[in-house]
Amino acid sequence: MHQVKARGRFITLEGGEGAGKSTNLEYIQRRLQKAGVVLHVSREPGGTPLGEKVREVLLNPDHAGMSSDAELLLMFAARAQHLHQVILPDLDKGSWVLCDRFTDATYAYQGGGRGIDSKRIRVLEDWVQEGFQPDMTLLFDLPVELGMKRAGKRGALDRFEQEQEIFFEQVREAYLERARQDPERFRIIDAGQELAEVQQQLDDVIEELITSSRGPSSRGQSIFKGSEYLKF
Ligand code: TMP
Repeated sequence: MHQVKARGRFITLEGGEGAGKSTNLEYIQRRLQKAGVVLHVSREPGGTPLGEKVREVLLNPDHAGMSSDAELLLMFAARAQHLHQVILPDLDKGSWVLCDRFTDATYAYQGGGRGIDSKRIRVLEDWVQEGFQPDMTLLFDLPVELGMKRAGKRGALDRFEQEQEIFFEQVREAYLERARQDPERFRIIDAGQELAEVQQQLDDVIEELITSSRGPSSRGQSIFKGSEYLKF
């Protein structure tokens, strides 16, 4: 028996526009940190200096003529850097990573929204991630009309926010399909409810995360307690 560092957990937050991810991300962050979890919060596209530059390119409405494939490849370019520079090293150090969007967003937006065949997305996913997947994904789901109403209050729209309702309907459907395909990883949060009710749903998920982190992880690698654990 020897002591090694626990591998952290990779938790991703997903959802359409106006789903309240940012507010809820802060809530989850506070709750996990209070429970003693060492946590790095990040986002995609972005999360590294290079990735944030790619994000600017992707979200800039001046690039209205960007092809779907260029968009897809830029998402994965930012992701490759994020994995290499931040996510994998942090997890290896024992920190948890809470990430605002990851590859499910690519299946939803570039797959569902833009209509790129998911088989092509999978090729890039396999290449860049080599099997790596989030430990848990929280999908903030709400009717598109409500989400657009909420998001519309925020002022200037980025290149994605400028899309039409049908685009976001396809995004929502693709997300829900992802969740149906992988019910073990996904937790669907009804984001159409009032904030207090959404947070109640989150409390259950957070409880589950903390409890499960005290036992062996799905990867059979960690029993988290502080930053060290005992490996048998
Ligand atoms: P955010 O504003 O929620 O941070 O996300 C930025 C936008 O990028 C959002 O409209 C969704 C989009 N996006 C994709 O289209 N594909 C992806 O793979 C990711 C991570 C985000």
